[in-house]
Amino acid sequence: MDEPGEKKQPTPAEGDQNQGVGRRDFLRIVVSVGAVGTIIGVAGLFTEFLTYVPTSNVTLAWPKAKVANINDLQDLKPVNFFYPLTNEPNILVKLGVKAENGIGPSEDIVAFSLICQHLGCIYAFVPEGSSPTCNSAYKMPVDGGYCCCHGSHYDFTKEGAVIGGPAPRPVPMVQLELDQATGDIYATSMGPPSIFGHDTGATAPAQVLSADMTGGSVITNTVSITSTQSTSGTSTASGSSGA
Ligand code: FES
Repeated sequence: MDEPGEKKQPTPAEGDQNQGVGRRDFLRIVVSVGAVGTIIGVAGLFTEFLTYVPTSNVTLAWPKAKVANINDLQDLKPVNFFYPLTNEPNILVKLGVKAENGIGPSEDIVAFSLICQHLGCIYAFVPEGSSPTCNSAYKMPVDGGYCCCHGSHYDFTKEGAVIGGPAPRPVPMVQLELDQATGDIYATSMGPPSIFGHDTGATAPAQVLSADMTGGSVITNTVSITSTQSTSGTSTASGSSGA
């Protein structure tokens, strides 16, 4: 029996029990703190996710690619090339007569997408007064392009304007730059409108850029091609890499 005033010493069992309660409390605190920490951590990540602003280190821009040298060009002898992607055919021609937006001393050098704006056939260049292979009765009134799929034709002296057939819009013009020192001619941008099949008909500059640069590999070099015109007016292209 305990004497009055004597401080009760816990029995080993009670001591263990008290210590056990203390450990449980401690564990509860640890678990609670851990849970709160986890919640704060998850909340932090969630907030980060909500406020995440993607950054891009890729700036979309038109490539600059050498197409030809002015000293190699002859009037009405087209040069075919791919731009801005390695699978997008274009045609450059020195018309011998001044053209809208033409370059060179005579402002007669122009280039256009070779893909018809109607349904995407490859058309052919036909000089003024000549007939397309598919329509010998027709004489082109100007230097331009004629698509034998459905008869669309384009005026190369008027920035590719439609002068006949079902095409709803001009063919995209390739913007050219002449290096006066070397005579090299570079393609520097396209359109508007966008190339057929690339968000077809887009006219806003940013839209045209993103549309025309999608769906293939961006050209890093000039790739010359030779075109063989068939009687249907479509062309087959065989490529060769150039510098
Ligand atoms: S695809 Fe060229 S006229 Fe139809």
